[in-house]
Amino acid sequence: MNNTMSKLSTKISLKCINKNYGSNQILNNINIDFHEAKLYILMGQSGSGKSTLLNIIGLLDKPTSGEVIINNTPISKLNDNKISKLRMNDIGFVFQSYFLHPKMKAYENIMIPMYINTAYKNIDLKKRSLQLLSLFGLENKYDMYPNQLSGGEQQRIAIARAIANDASIIIADEPTGNLDKENEEIVLECLKKLVLDGKTVIVVTHNESLLKYADKSYYLNNGSLEEIYYEK
Ligand SMILES: Nc1ncnc2c1ncn2[C@@H]1O[C@H](COP(=O)(O)OP(=O)(O)OP(=O)(O)O)[C@@H](O)[C@H]1O
Ligand SMILES: [Mg+2]
Repeated sequence: MNNTMSKLSTKISLKCINKNYGSNQILNNINIDFHEAKLYILMGQSGSGKSTLLNIIGLLDKPTSGEVIINNTPISKLNDNKISKLRMNDIGFVFQSYFLHPKMKAYENIMIPMYINTAYKNIDLKKRSLQLLSLFGLENKYDMYPNQLSGGEQQRIAIARAIANDASIIIADEPTGNLDKENEEIVLECLKKLVLDGKTVIVVTHNESLLKYADKSYYLNNGSLEEIYYEK
């Protein structure tokens, strides 16, 4: 791949990212590019700074110094309003707890982000929710409430909600932390499907057996990322 090609497919670039809490340096001069249509796995000990790094990539937090570049736009050049818009339109979040609304049905939960996005005001939101549910094999659970669904099913609904606005970046912080082995694999298969659609997916996990799903993996240690080489 020549330089122009690799530049075109760069979705997120982190340049010299540092993050300190007081005198505690959590991230130390991180430089990394994340590309379109790739799944990345981040590992590292508890407290190593994985969530801190994801929150910076997801524009939920700011680095102490350094630049985050998304879609070739340096984030430090954007005001808070533009940052919120970029986050809402282009970044989907998945967490260990599914955070589904308990009084809303599966398809209604998926509709939430589209309700607040004016770009979707003329779209049939229910139809789009049902399409997203069927992408993850949950079409016949569409009118169930979260407490009528298994953890794995709830997480797949949370992933559908994360991509409802057609986010091109999906950030998943320990998405399988509460799931058994079978459901872990199902959730990773769902995330892998998004990659086929061109999305950039970044997953934090403690489970080495999921490394087989990654195009690239990194270990966060002492504030730095070290690539993990994994034989598939
Ligand atoms: N708001 C904050 N103020 C002070 N210290 C913080 C803050 N947020 C995180 N930290 C510290 O930063 C370090 C990294 O935390 P982080 O949550 O990123 O770790 P992690 O790798 O995600 O851990 P885990 O695997 O347990 O989720 C921890 O030592 C934590 O105490
Ligand atoms: Mg964490």
